[in-house]
Amino acid sequence: MKVEAREFKVEEVKEPIAIFLFEDDRENLNFLGSLRGQVEKMLSAEDFKGKEETLAKVSLLVGDDVRVFYAVGLGKKEKAGEDSYRIASALASKRANKDKFKTLHIYAGSLDYRLSKAITEGAILGSYRFDKYKTKKEGEKDQKLEEVYIHGADSRTVEVGKVFAQAQNFTRDLVNEPGNVINPISLADIAQRVAQEYGLECKVYDEKEIQEMGMQALWSVGKGSATPPRFVHMVYRPQGEPKEKIAIVGKGLTFDSGGLNIKTGDYMRTMKMDKSGACAVIGIMKALAQLKPQVEVHGIFGAAENMPSGTAYRPDDIIRAMNGKTIEIDNTDAEGRVTLADALSYASKLGVSRIIDMATLTGACMVALGEYTAGLFTNDDEFGEEILSLSKLTGEGMWKLPMDDKRLREKIKKGEGDVLNSGGRYGGAITAAMFLEEFVGEGIKWVHLDIAGPAHLREEFSYYSKGGTGFGVRTCLEYILKLSER
Ligand code: BES
Ligand code: MN
Ligand code: ZN
Repeated sequence: MKVEAREFKVEEVKEPIAIFLFEDDRENLNFLGSLRGQVEKMLSAEDFKGKEETLAKVSLLVGDDVRVFYAVGLGKKEKAGEDSYRIASALASKRANKDKFKTLHIYAGSLDYRLSKAITEGAILGSYRFDKYKTKKEGEKDQKLEEVYIHGADSRTVEVGKVFAQAQNFTRDLVNEPGNVINPISLADIAQRVAQEYGLECKVYDEKEIQEMGMQALWSVGKGSATPPRFVHMVYRPQGEPKEKIAIVGKGLTFDSGGLNIKTGDYMRTMKMDKSGACAVIGIMKALAQLKPQVEVHGIFGAAENMPSGTAYRPDDIIRAMNGKTIEIDNTDAEGRVTLADALSYASKLGVSRIIDMATLTGACMVALGEYTAGLFTNDDEFGEEILSLSKLTGEGMWKLPMDDKRLREKIKKGEGDVLNSGGRYGGAITAAMFLEEFVGEGIKWVHLDIAGPAHLREEFSYYSKGGTGFGVRTCLEYILKLSER
């Protein structure tokens, strides 16, 4: 989809115009000039107030033309943040798409850098659909929204917004692919293809190399599947001296059946999304090649399929991760942390100062925070706060959970190995994070995002459709751009 900054006058365009309005504030309607009065009356008749996530369509006959206006609410002026603009833009583009318009104009008052970017992102995220497997009827053409023009936007930041949103949509596409299409081998292939196309480095390790490198943890989780695991290391290197070197690590379970501790049907459904962290890594790397920040970024994931079989790993198994620590398996369904043990050990050897990992790690995190908020865990409060404050801008909700409970930590120290892969029911998201921390190298600042809830949605809302969300992509990109500007 084409999104551009472009000035327009109400009298000159024939296509629909979306006008963003604060709650109980009609100031932006002035833009309509002589049509203001009529539109305002129609909005009052419809009882449109401008509340967040509301839209009213107004059609007027002007001369011989039917003119369409979408009034979109931003919520209360003092409360509206950039995500309100992102949501409004998504609602408008979703609706224009549904009404089969090719072109949409947006007027949202005066815009700065951040708002221009947010509106761009909203338009692209809002018009996302995953319908490639729906067979089209013969002769059926789907009319899609093709161009969005934003009045008064900053054209350079519109470009940045496009890269952000396209990376997120790309991630959503990957997450939505089922396990019969994306398996560990094909996921690694996709990373390789993206790297080739965008000029990134990418090394894929096969199952033999995984074992030779001492990644018995990743190997164990993957070995029960007919498709062997892969380990993927992508690199974006800026020209000249990087301001910082960091790693982004993702959980990459292309399907999680639970393994021998097999899940029941209801819980197994949607487990194609268990690769969301890895898909976000690929999306982020793709965006970095276009944004070219002055930061060296390593994108890392282990790809595996957790299956029950005669070659599957078992409860009671004791295995050694790449950093030398042994893991006793309590439950084969707590597999993500086992694969991440090797991915974090590997990332810790690259000379990076920071690691962010994203993982659809625990159902417990969803019990604690609901489906729309990710759990944030860190060994460095300042780093954690930076990510949290960026998440307020991106609208990717995150909440910090504690890691200083000594007694809880002891639960993963029980058993015959150095660590146990499950700490039991209570505080399950926290004990999972504590497990991961065992594999983060000394002195490395680390943030872990448990995205089990927000990575995948059962119902659409605001700029999300049902299914994969690409959660985490924009917040990580914001952080990397911020490092680049330091
Ligand atoms: N992939 C799941 C976590 C998950 C659950 C993600 C629901 C998204 C939605 C993970 O591998 C898992 O199975 N975790 C177990 C851990 C338990 C066995 C300690 C869980 O949360 O039940
Ligand atoms: Mn599992
Ligand atoms: Zn899993």
